[in-house]
Amino acid sequence: MNPYGHFDDDHREYVITRPDTPLPWLNYLGCEEFFGIISNTAGGYSFYRDAKLRRLTRYRYNNVPLDSNGRYLYIRDGNDIWSPTWKPIRATLDRYECRHGLGYTQIIGQRNGIAVTTRHFVPLGRTCEVWDVRVRNTSPHPKRVQLWGFIEWCLWDAMDDASNFQRNYSTGQVEVEPQAIYHVTEYRERRNHYAYFSSSVPTAGFDTSRNAFVGVHEGLDAPRAVVAGNCTNSIAYGWQPIGVHQIDLDLSPGEEKRLHFLIGYAENPDDKKFSPGMVRKGQLVANKAPAQKVRAELANSSAIDAAFAELKDYWADLLSNYKAEVPDPHVSRMVNIWNQYQCMTTLNLSRSASGFESGIGRGMGYRDSNQDLLGVVHLQPQRSRQRIIDLASTQLSDGTCFHQYQPLTKKGNADIGGGFNDDPLWLPLSVYAYIAETGDNTILAERCPYADKPDAASTLMDHLELSMNYTLRNRGPHNLPLIGHADWNDCLNLNCFSTTPGESFQCAGDIAGSVAESVMIAGLFCAACDRMAAIYRLLGQEAKAADVLARKAEMQKAIETNGWDGQWFLRAYDAHGHKVGSKESEEGRIFIESQGWCVLGGVGSKDGKARIALDSVKKHLATPNGIVLQQPAYSTYHVELGEVTSYPPGYKENAGIFTHNNTWIQCAEALLGDGAQAMEYFLSICPSKKEEQIETYRCEPYVYSQMTAGPDAPTPGEAKNSWLTGTAAWSFVAISQYILGITPSPAGLVVNPCIPPSWKGFAISRKFRGKTYNIDVRNPRGVCKGVNRMTVDGQTIDGNTIPLNLGGNIVSVQVVLE
Ligand code: GLC
Ligand code: GLC
Repeated sequence: MNPYGHFDDDHREYVITRPDTPLPWLNYLGCEEFFGIISNTAGGYSFYRDAKLRRLTRYRYNNVPLDSNGRYLYIRDGNDIWSPTWKPIRATLDRYECRHGLGYTQIIGQRNGIAVTTRHFVPLGRTCEVWDVRVRNTSPHPKRVQLWGFIEWCLWDAMDDASNFQRNYSTGQVEVEPQAIYHVTEYRERRNHYAYFSSSVPTAGFDTSRNAFVGVHEGLDAPRAVVAGNCTNSIAYGWQPIGVHQIDLDLSPGEEKRLHFLIGYAENPDDKKFSPGMVRKGQLVANKAPAQKVRAELANSSAIDAAFAELKDYWADLLSNYKAEVPDPHVSRMVNIWNQYQCMTTLNLSRSASGFESGIGRGMGYRDSNQDLLGVVHLQPQRSRQRIIDLASTQLSDGTCFHQYQPLTKKGNADIGGGFNDDPLWLPLSVYAYIAETGDNTILAERCPYADKPDAASTLMDHLELSMNYTLRNRGPHNLPLIGHADWNDCLNLNCFSTTPGESFQCAGDIAGSVAESVMIAGLFCAACDRMAAIYRLLGQEAKAADVLARKAEMQKAIETNGWDGQWFLRAYDAHGHKVGSKESEEGRIFIESQGWCVLGGVGSKDGKARIALDSVKKHLATPNGIVLQQPAYSTYHVELGEVTSYPPGYKENAGIFTHNNTWIQCAEALLGDGAQAMEYFLSICPSKKEEQIETYRCEPYVYSQMTAGPDAPTPGEAKNSWLTGTAAWSFVAISQYILGITPSPAGLVVNPCIPPSWKGFAISRKFRGKTYNIDVRNPRGVCKGVNRMTVDGQTIDGNTIPLNLGGNIVSVQVVLE
């Protein structure tokens, strides 16, 4: 079915069985401070905390192949040279296998009786990446082989590295010790950090100059030193510093030798930057102590084994927080393994670094990271808490928010600024999710300064109220929220009017005084009001709860009066007051986002508008590959609508299948009670299902991609922008809270599944507030929804919320749907 690989659910791995996948299929290493992107042929790069400001190894943008550079190995066996990860040499392998696991990747390459297995991972608590290498002689003859490990250093700031050659060709510096190469560019002056690449075994040579090892005119597929059979022990002075270790190995038949390389990052306090008294060639020598300590602690293979076992345990423990037994294998592997794994990746990296995000563009997105939290509060409550505080601290005192911030500095990105008027409203959603999961409402009293008023004595609660008031204060002629630069749809730019090539659609144009309004923000506001009301009630502030619900009613009325188009919700009003996403529009007649958010905000639930809107989604937008963003696609550029009309029809926001917003419709269908439809939509974008059409789909089948080309595109069904997408968190919310229907609330877990009638039942084991809940749901009559009976530890209870005080550490819950 899929010629490139398959899932190994028991080992929680995706196994790639040939290297020439339709695109590089990536994985991530690291889950704390040190990260790496690694493809199935070992391409990618490493960084410490921030892919822009602390890039360790070099990547060449828009390169061919797409995933080069990488962490490469070369083998020379007689005159035969090859790479055990296939790239960069691409000599045919007798055997190839790549296993992407949770936080590690193992690649096996075998040729002519030499098998090399390399496992890459970042040990917990460390700022280094391990390449654990085994070389085995599978032939009946003794063999002498040479092995080279190769990386290319990035001069730290990836943007500068990629552009400022006139300076950087002179600044690159290294220091070399036996078995270790230190990258010390700029360390002499303003940096307190360096990187290292070390070998666990004695080396036969090294190189640190790319020109010496690879050559000026040669490529990584035929480095001069590998072709010649020996390193040159070069020292880099500027140009492109690299790290290469050469290891000569004698292997008797059947013998295996094991060694490892480390790529590490180390910092020194300012007064300990240099080794006292040491000067080499007139230069102070970096203090290597912190790197040497790590190298010593990870010197032998038993330390490497222990670190790997710890990482495996970490993930097993994390995933034990939520486990589902469901009748569908696709749902099962996504919800139990890959979806939660992807959620952790988006928590770590937001939209910064992937095969599609350069690491030098966007850092942490305000709306993105708030939504990402929805998928991880059950896994990482402490980190979620900190992230919420970091995000709130990039809000400005007028209520708008820096749209992005850099992870290293936690400072808002002034180039983009604020004025994306959905941004503030995602905070109530993430804060509520955190409190519902943990019960920790002390977070509301945490001090979070405003970005423009660092000394303001504001609490997180102040930020929440400011966010709600921001929407209320910024409404237009139809009493709907003003859109600003854009709402969730970054490309619906109703105030930009850009005619200059290259201008940022988001930042061009003036939003002051504009009347452009967003129905999607209006729906989101209603949903945020529900969260705020729940928070107020938890604090016993009934009057405030009533007040925010009154504001919600007001907004609902505005939507029903001015945001309803007859068969669906309008999308917006443009800066001239014209409708966007209306039957009156020639193109872009119906948009998905306002249907999702108005229904989730409770609009039209009583008078049937909600159902009609979702039926229109099905009729006009649904395809077997997911729901397209709008129809008909825009065929010409509309200056009054902005970037959405700039994409060719069928791609991205112009009628692509934007998987993120599909999840809102899944939630909305479940909310209205159609479990079969919710599941059909869920499966239509489910990565694991895409193995069936992988030649068309092309991206990784184990994680969500942001976008699949829609039917208007010349390449319908082709995915792009895998890994860093809000689809991850929202899919987990859709499946776990709306479809399987176990939702944390301040009062306890609420049980309200909405499943396909064909499902006979399912079971969930979920940790919550220190207890493990084993919830067994039966569906004897084949319904979608409706909790008829529920017992908690054998005791029948009223309603469908499991009271917090019932049961011991392990709580058994029986649920019957009817
Ligand atoms: C991208 C952005 C996200 C935005 C979406 C729709 O995924 O990361 O912030 O909401 O595109 O434009
Ligand atoms: C482009 C993309 C959109 C993304 C935005 C980020 O507009 O189409 O998906 O959110 O860039 O700036």
